[in-house]
Amino acid sequence: MKILNIYSSLNGPTARVAAEISKAAKDMGCELTEVQITKETEALDLLDFDLSFFGSGVYSWLPPKPALKWIDKQMDAAKTAGLIKPCSPRIPGKFVSVYTTFGGPHTGVAEAVPAVKYMGQLFDHLGISITDEWYVQGSFIPENFSAMNTAGRMGNVEGRPNAADLRAAYERTCGTILNLRPVIDALP
Ligand SMILES: Cc1cc2nc3c(=O)[nH]c(=O)nc-3n(C[C@H](O)[C@H](O)[C@H](O)COP(=O)(O)O)c2cc1C
Repeated sequence: MKILNIYSSLNGPTARVAAEISKAAKDMGCELTEVQITKETEALDLLDFDLSFFGSGVYSWLPPKPALKWIDKQMDAAKTAGLIKPCSPRIPGKFVSVYTTFGGPHTGVAEAVPAVKYMGQLFDHLGISITDEWYVQGSFIPENFSAMNTAGRMGNVEGRPNAADLRAAYERTCGTILNLRPVIDALP
Protein backbone atom coordinates (compact mmCIF):
# COMPACT_ATOMS: atom_id res chain seq x y z
CA MET A 1 0.00 0.00 0.00
CA LYS A 2 1.38 3.41 -0.98
CA ILE A 3 0.88 6.01 1.73
CA LEU A 4 1.29 9.79 1.60
CA ASN A 5 1.74 11.43 4.99
CA ILE A 6 1.40 15.15 4.26
CA TYR A 7 1.08 17.78 6.96
CA SER A 8 1.57 21.40 7.86
CA SER A 9 2.96 22.23 11.29
CA LEU A 10 3.90 25.76 12.36
CA ASN A 11 5.05 25.00 15.90
CA GLY A 12 5.33 21.22 16.27
CA PRO A 13 2.13 19.58 17.58
CA THR A 14 0.95 18.37 14.16
CA ALA A 15 4.45 17.21 13.28
CA ARG A 16 4.42 15.00 16.38
CA VAL A 17 1.18 13.35 15.28
CA ALA A 18 2.51 12.98 11.73
CA ALA A 19 5.60 11.21 13.10
CA GLU A 20 3.32 8.59 14.68
CA ILE A 21 1.52 8.13 11.37
CA SER A 22 4.83 7.52 9.60
CA LYS A 23 5.95 5.09 12.30
CA ALA A 24 2.71 3.13 12.04
CA ALA A 25 2.77 3.08 8.22
CA LYS A 26 6.31 1.68 8.25
CA ASP A 27 5.48 -0.87 10.97
CA MET A 28 2.54 -2.02 8.82
CA GLY A 29 4.87 -2.62 5.86
CA CYS A 30 3.57 0.24 3.70
CA GLU A 31 5.53 2.30 1.18
CA LEU A 32 5.70 5.76 2.75
CA THR A 33 6.14 9.27 1.37
CA GLU A 34 6.27 12.00 4.03
CA VAL A 35 5.91 15.68 3.11
CA GLN A 36 5.92 18.65 5.46
CA ILE A 37 4.19 21.54 3.70
CA THR A 38 6.09 24.80 3.37
CA LYS A 39 5.38 27.88 1.27
CA GLU A 40 7.41 26.28 -1.51
CA THR A 41 5.70 22.86 -1.59
CA GLU A 42 4.54 22.15 -5.13
CA ALA A 43 1.51 20.16 -6.28
CA LEU A 44 1.87 16.39 -5.96
CA ASP A 45 0.23 13.55 -7.88
CA LEU A 46 -2.28 12.67 -5.16
CA LEU A 47 -3.69 9.82 -7.25
CA ASP A 48 -0.34 8.06 -7.03
CA PHE A 49 -1.16 7.04 -3.44
CA ASP A 50 -3.65 4.49 -2.12
CA LEU A 51 -4.08 6.24 1.22
CA SER A 52 -3.16 9.76 2.28
CA PHE A 53 -3.07 11.31 5.75
CA PHE A 54 -3.48 15.10 5.64
CA GLY A 55 -3.05 17.09 8.85
CA SER A 56 -2.58 20.65 10.07
CA GLY A 57 -3.10 22.92 13.04
CA VAL A 58 -6.11 25.24 13.25
CA TYR A 59 -5.69 29.00 12.85
CA SER A 60 -8.90 31.06 12.86
CA TRP A 61 -10.96 27.98 11.97
CA LEU A 62 -8.84 26.99 8.98
CA PRO A 63 -5.45 25.47 8.22
CA PRO A 64 -2.54 27.96 8.21
CA LYS A 65 -1.46 29.93 5.13
CA PRO A 66 1.17 27.46 3.77
CA ALA A 67 -1.45 24.67 3.79
CA LEU A 68 -4.09 26.91 2.18
CA LYS A 69 -1.58 27.88 -0.50
CA TRP A 70 -0.72 24.24 -1.19
CA ILE A 71 -4.43 23.35 -1.47
CA ASP A 72 -4.82 26.15 -4.03
CA LYS A 73 -1.84 24.85 -6.01
CA GLN A 74 -3.28 21.32 -5.97
CA MET A 75 -6.68 22.54 -7.15
CA ASP A 76 -5.12 24.60 -9.95
CA ALA A 77 -3.09 21.58 -11.11
CA ALA A 78 -6.14 19.31 -10.91
CA LYS A 79 -8.28 21.71 -12.91
CA THR A 80 -5.58 22.08 -15.57
CA ALA A 81 -5.35 18.27 -15.83
CA GLY A 82 -9.13 17.96 -16.16
CA LEU A 83 -9.42 15.99 -12.92
CA ILE A 84 -12.24 18.03 -11.36
CA LYS A 85 -15.38 16.53 -12.85
CA PRO A 86 -19.08 17.02 -12.20
CA CYS A 87 -20.19 14.64 -9.45
CA SER A 88 -16.55 14.01 -8.40
CA PRO A 89 -16.80 10.28 -9.36
CA ARG A 90 -15.15 7.98 -6.79
CA ILE A 91 -11.82 6.52 -7.82
CA PRO A 92 -11.64 2.90 -6.62
CA GLY A 93 -9.01 2.26 -3.97
CA LYS A 94 -8.15 5.91 -3.23
CA PHE A 95 -8.65 7.16 0.33
CA VAL A 96 -7.70 10.00 2.67
CA SER A 97 -7.80 10.50 6.44
CA VAL A 98 -7.92 14.16 7.45
CA TYR A 99 -7.02 15.49 10.89
CA THR A 100 -6.21 18.64 12.80
CA THR A 101 -4.46 19.39 16.01
CA PHE A 102 -6.40 22.21 17.61
CA GLY A 103 -6.66 24.26 20.79
CA GLY A 104 -10.38 24.99 20.69
CA PRO A 105 -10.10 27.82 23.26
CA HIS A 106 -13.20 29.68 22.18
CA THR A 107 -15.81 27.31 20.80
CA GLY A 108 -14.15 23.92 21.21
CA VAL A 109 -14.22 21.33 18.44
CA ALA A 110 -16.58 23.60 16.47
CA GLU A 111 -13.66 25.84 15.51
CA ALA A 112 -11.64 22.88 14.20
CA VAL A 113 -14.45 21.39 12.10
CA PRO A 114 -14.19 23.96 9.26
CA ALA A 115 -10.46 23.24 8.90
CA VAL A 116 -10.98 19.48 8.59
CA LYS A 117 -13.88 19.92 6.18
CA TYR A 118 -11.91 22.41 4.05
CA MET A 119 -8.87 20.14 3.85
CA GLY A 120 -10.95 17.09 3.02
CA GLN A 121 -12.66 18.80 0.10
CA LEU A 122 -9.44 18.89 -1.92
CA PHE A 123 -9.33 15.10 -1.95
CA ASP A 124 -13.10 14.63 -2.16
CA HIS A 125 -13.25 16.83 -5.27
CA LEU A 126 -10.70 14.56 -6.93
CA GLY A 127 -12.79 11.45 -6.19
CA ILE A 128 -10.60 10.32 -3.28
CA SER A 129 -12.91 9.09 -0.51
CA ILE A 130 -12.58 10.53 2.99
CA THR A 131 -12.24 7.51 5.23
CA ASP A 132 -11.81 9.28 8.57
CA GLU A 133 -11.61 12.66 10.34
CA TRP A 134 -9.61 13.04 13.53
CA TYR A 135 -9.59 15.93 15.99
CA VAL A 136 -6.45 15.82 18.13
CA GLN A 137 -5.92 18.26 20.97
CA GLY A 138 -2.88 20.52 20.40
CA SER A 139 -1.77 23.14 22.90
CA PHE A 140 -0.90 26.69 21.86
CA ILE A 141 2.82 27.33 21.42
CA PRO A 142 4.58 29.64 22.26
CA GLU A 143 3.84 29.86 25.94
CA ASN A 144 2.66 33.49 25.85
CA PHE A 145 -0.65 32.03 24.71
CA SER A 146 -0.86 30.08 27.97
CA ALA A 147 -4.32 31.41 28.95
CA MET A 148 -5.63 29.76 25.77
CA ASN A 149 -4.26 26.47 27.09
CA THR A 150 -5.64 26.70 30.61
CA ALA A 151 -8.84 28.74 30.45
CA GLY A 152 -10.42 27.67 27.18
CA ARG A 153 -13.50 25.71 26.20
CA MET A 154 -11.62 22.40 26.24
CA GLY A 155 -10.29 22.92 29.77
CA ASN A 156 -6.57 22.52 30.42
CA VAL A 157 -4.87 21.36 27.22
CA GLU A 158 -1.26 22.05 28.20
CA GLY A 159 1.24 19.55 26.85
CA ARG A 160 -1.10 18.10 24.23
CA PRO A 161 -0.75 16.03 22.19
CA ASN A 162 0.41 13.93 25.12
CA ALA A 163 1.63 10.34 25.11
CA ALA A 164 -1.93 8.99 25.05
CA ASP A 165 -2.86 11.23 22.09
CA LEU A 166 0.22 10.08 20.18
CA ARG A 167 -0.47 6.45 20.98
CA ALA A 168 -4.04 6.91 19.71
CA ALA A 169 -2.73 8.41 16.45
CA TYR A 170 -0.43 5.42 15.98
CA GLU A 171 -3.19 2.92 16.71
CA ARG A 172 -5.75 4.67 14.51
CA THR A 173 -3.29 4.70 11.62
CA CYS A 174 -2.79 0.93 11.99
CA GLY A 175 -6.56 0.48 12.18
CA THR A 176 -7.15 2.54 9.04
CA ILE A 177 -4.58 0.52 7.10
CA LEU A 178 -6.09 -2.77 8.26
CA ASN A 179 -9.56 -1.49 7.38
CA LEU A 180 -8.62 -0.52 3.80
CA ARG A 181 -6.06 -3.18 2.94
CA PRO A 182 -8.60 -5.75 1.61
CA VAL A 183 -10.14 -3.16 -0.72
CA ILE A 184 -6.80 -1.93 -2.04
CA ASP A 185 -5.27 -5.41 -2.35
CA ALA A 186 -8.31 -6.64 -4.32
CA LEU A 187 -7.72 -4.10 -7.11
CA PRO A 188 -6.03 -5.34 -10.27
C1 LIG B 1 -1.44 32.21 16.60
C2 LIG B 1 -2.25 30.98 16.91
C3 LIG B 1 -3.59 30.96 16.55
C4 LIG B 1 -4.38 29.85 16.84
N1 LIG B 1 -5.71 29.86 16.52
C5 LIG B 1 -6.48 28.81 16.84
C6 LIG B 1 -7.88 28.81 16.54
O1 LIG B 1 -8.42 29.75 15.96
N2 LIG B 1 -8.61 27.72 16.91
C7 LIG B 1 -8.04 26.63 17.51
O2 LIG B 1 -8.76 25.67 17.81
N3 LIG B 1 -6.70 26.59 17.79
C8 LIG B 1 -5.92 27.64 17.47
N4 LIG B 1 -4.59 27.61 17.74
C9 LIG B 1 -3.99 26.41 18.35
C10 LIG B 1 -3.35 25.53 17.29
O3 LIG B 1 -4.29 25.10 16.34
C11 LIG B 1 -2.72 24.32 17.98
O4 LIG B 1 -1.69 24.77 18.81
C12 LIG B 1 -2.15 23.35 16.95
O5 LIG B 1 -1.80 22.16 17.61
C13 LIG B 1 -0.96 23.94 16.23
O6 LIG B 1 -0.41 22.99 15.36
P1 LIG B 1 0.97 23.26 14.57
O7 LIG B 1 1.86 24.05 15.45
O8 LIG B 1 1.47 21.89 14.29
O9 LIG B 1 0.61 24.05 13.33
C14 LIG B 1 -3.78 28.71 17.45
C15 LIG B 1 -2.41 28.72 17.78
C16 LIG B 1 -1.66 29.85 17.52
C17 LIG B 1 -0.19 29.84 17.92
